[in-house]
Amino acid sequence: MEQLFNILYDDEVKRIYLACKNKYLSLDEKYHSRFTHIEGVCQMATLLAKKYNVNVKKAQIAAILHDYYKYESHEEMESLLDSKEEIEECRQCPVLYHAYASSKALGKIFGIHDKEIENAIKYHVFGKTNMTKLEEIILISDYTEFNRKYQDCIEVRKVLLDGNFDKAIYLSTRYTIDHLVKNNIKPHPIQCEVLKEYERKINNE
Ligand SMILES: [Fe+2]
Ligand SMILES: [Fe+2]
Repeated sequence: MEQLFNILYDDEVKRIYLACKNKYLSLDEKYHSRFTHIEGVCQMATLLAKKYNVNVKKAQIAAILHDYYKYESHEEMESLLDSKEEIEECRQCPVLYHAYASSKALGKIFGIHDKEIENAIKYHVFGKTNMTKLEEIILISDYTEFNRKYQDCIEVRKVLLDGNFDKAIYLSTRYTIDHLVKNNIKPHPIQCEVLKEYERKINNE
């Protein structure tokens, strides 16, 4: 994705991009598509940051690092976490491990101490209530990036690109919850809170 590299904000972002690319391309080939997804998230996050006046550099760094850890063992990812609460949250819901651990890569591997970027990475799986625009952008870019070909993602991408930002978050959350329920998996309480918050928002618009 040559064009993406060219639109990266500055040399610091380019360095992070190349480090993440090297990490994934040094893994078994079956993991390489994860980096393609990361590039897609970065592309979408850049577009949205420009559209909604969010710091492009922060959006790009958060997007590039959001899945920095993904295939490591739970033990390895847990060793990066700082607090008992975080460890407990991940033990209760292991899909959170990769997001919480990736948020620590920002400071621990790249030496960047920025809470806004850290939280955007940390909360990219379900979102949370009262998100910042940066957090919202990473959440919805993850769901709607152009490599995603599921019907639901295509629909939400269209809603998003038509300018209906809150509705896109509402729908992505609803479809994710519906999918879980269909598979007899209980949604995380945060997903239900996010759904309610965005339902309220779109009804007040
Ligand atoms: Fe993720
Ligand atoms: Fe992702």
